[in-house]
Amino acid sequence: MVKPYNTLEGSKKDQVQSMFDRIAPRYDLLNRLLSFGIDKIWRRNVVKQLKELKGPMVLDVATGTGDLAVEICKIDPVAVYGLDLSNEMLAFAKEKIFRKKLHMTVQLRQGDSENLPFEDDFFDAITVAFGVRNFENLSKGLEEMHRVLRPGGRLVVLEFSKPKKFPFKQLYHFYFTKILPWWGGLISKDKEAYAYLPASVLQFPEGKEFEEKLRRAGLQPQASLPQTFGIATIYVSTKP
Ligand SMILES: C[S@@+](CC[C@H](N)C(=O)[O-])C[C@H]1O[C@@H](n2cnc3c(N)ncnc32)[C@H](O)[C@@H]1O
Repeated sequence: MVKPYNTLEGSKKDQVQSMFDRIAPRYDLLNRLLSFGIDKIWRRNVVKQLKELKGPMVLDVATGTGDLAVEICKIDPVAVYGLDLSNEMLAFAKEKIFRKKLHMTVQLRQGDSENLPFEDDFFDAITVAFGVRNFENLSKGLEEMHRVLRPGGRLVVLEFSKPKKFPFKQLYHFYFTKILPWWGGLISKDKEAYAYLPASVLQFPEGKEFEEKLRRAGLQPQASLPQTFGIATIYVSTKP
């Protein structure tokens, strides 16, 4: 299992939590710089998958600094719950949500995706952006999301994947394994966090393999939508 700090003791979950606590102040800036702003388009594309839902109750798992929760507010949800392990990431989300006057719609909660503090069949939709790769137990996380989703409800996962075609495959590999860790380490002052990012993406199950994980958790994959030459993929699935 790839963990953020290979030289340190502690579970992946503990390490992921302290890594995000540490990089939280620079997280948004780094996202914009390292993805050249494309991450915003990907989150918008996630929300497009929820557009036809009328006044949904939405859970954004691994909400981090709340960018996706804010984007979800554009489809007039009844409520958005944003859940994350890291209190520091949530502190930035809280400030952003107040600044955007969305605090009547978005509720933030510290918690673990592998043990969701919600009733069965509660949400119309669940989203996760760049979160599932960080779960210690991916199957447990997916099963929990299946549990709290209502029958007919929709899960939309956005996660990094690897471009397959020349020359993007080669360019991406060079950027992701050489340039991004260097820049990320310099700006975040946490070299290991930005070495963990490519390492965790390279070992993550993508495409058909991830769809199989969704199936095993009881979900029905509906579509896998590659984004920007396959750098990321949006996985849409439903609870039967
Ligand atoms: C890369 S950030 C993504 C944040 C946000 N979704 C975005 O799109 O920018 C990953 C987030 O997942 C959270 N996370 C990782 N494992 C988690 C878990 N088991 N339960 C809840 N949150 C988790 C981290 O604390 C971190 O804030």
